[in-house]
Amino acid sequence: MSEKPPFVFPKWINKATLGLLATLAIAPVYLIILLGYGANARTLNVGFSPKQPVPFSHALHAGKLGINCYYCHTDVMRAAFAALPPTQTCLNCHAEIAPKSKELEPVRDSDGLGPASKAGLPVPWIKVNDEPDYVYFNHAAHINAGVSCLTCHGRVNEMTQVYQAKPLNMAWCLACHRNPGPNLRPRNEVTNLNWNPNNKVQLARDLGLKESQLPKNLGKYLVKKYKIASTKLLTDCQTCHH
Ligand code: HEC
Ligand code: HEC
Ligand code: HEC
Ligand code: HEC
Ligand code: HEC
Repeated sequence: MSEKPPFVFPKWINKATLGLLATLAIAPVYLIILLGYGANARTLNVGFSPKQPVPFSHALHAGKLGINCYYCHTDVMRAAFAALPPTQTCLNCHAEIAPKSKELEPVRDSDGLGPASKAGLPVPWIKVNDEPDYVYFNHAAHINAGVSCLTCHGRVNEMTQVYQAKPLNMAWCLACHRNPGPNLRPRNEVTNLNWNPNNKVQLARDLGLKESQLPKNLGKYLVKKYKIASTKLLTDCQTCHH
């Protein structure tokens, strides 16, 4: 009869140890990859402003001509991705306006009026604001929560060439997610980059209230009205990395 050994590890330890070792082995690799990406990413590049194939001016179109952002970025309030306008959107005007402009040649090429090799291909716009693939970002969620394009992209309506206005890094996202209230405005003012929060007449109209009913703290009011998620959820790693 064999004696019982003085101490035996319970069976489950084996599995648990393996699991722990595997996690420890993978974690540094995982972090290094992430950090490498983070350091290289263009996300930190405030001021990044590549020359575009067509010198399209937001200052002219969105500023002086007053064309609404939604006219060209049509999906921004419905989709994660804020699509760029197709060639046809430009031609709605430029079939008639400045139809021979040298600057608009890539647009005409895309429409099939130039070399056959370029016909039907979109204008090769260069991406300015760019998050690494391991970050989940969704435009619609922010637009519907009343966060303005202005807050994240700056005064686009005054830019002759778009540049990255904000760092777009994790600390920047979290600064707002910890306390979103002060960054909210009525949804229908999201694309009005000249919105003035002190215009009581306008604000009352936006909120469908009488001036005497206006909330003392607009941020708090909108957090409730738009049912903004809790800071706990908005700062959870899984919300932006999944
Ligand atoms: C007439 C069409 C048009 C209108 C109106 C317009 N845009 Fe754009 N937008 C474009 C085109 C084309 C590009 C790609 C070329 C470029 O970057 O300039 C672009 C690019 C951008 C980019 C950079 C995208 C990237 O690659 O990161 C941002 C941000 C942007 N627009 C915001 C806005 C905002 C905010 C408004 C409203 C104030 C607006 N746009 C109105 C056509 C338009
Ligand atoms: C709602 C009408 C409208 C739309 C849509 C529009 N534009 Fe324009 N665009 C204009 C007007 C008006 C001018 C000024 C023309 C002038 O000064 O003779 C202009 C000027 C330009 C110029 C300068 C042309 C030159 O030779 O001086 C470029 C480049 C241009 N637009 C590109 C675009 C692109 C690219 C798009 C699509 C993303 C677009 N536009 C969409 C109305 C429009
Ligand atoms: C909460 C911040 C935030 C708001 C609000 C916001 N954007 Fe963006 N936008 C971003 C970020 C971040 C990116 C880069 C996304 C990526 O690379 O995945 C981006 C990218 C873009 C792009 C390039 C295409 C794309 O989706 O990557 C366009 C165009 C754009 N934004 C337009 C707009 C317009 C127009 C509005 C307002 C109607 C707006 N954005 C509001 C943060 C924002
Ligand atoms: C200026 C404020 C602000 C900034 C900056 C901001 N957010 Fe948000 N974000 C919000 C608000 C407000 C909500 C809550 C929306 C709701 O609850 O309806 C939100 C919600 C989200 C959600 C959850 C919605 C969904 O679709 O799952 C994600 C993911 C997110 N943000 C990612 C980001 C990332 C990534 C960045 C930085 C690149 C960022 N946000 C920058 C205000 C902001
Ligand atoms: C609101 C969105 C958001 C939340 C919540 C969030 N992150 Fe991030 N995270 C980002 C963005 C955006 C980047 C990209 C930074 C860059 O490219 O500069 C990033 C990058 C990273 C990186 C790469 C290294 C770096 O700093 O650039 C790591 C690691 C990381 N996040 C871990 C986490 C962990 C762990 C949590 C939870 C405690 C978390 N993140 C929560 C948005 C978020």
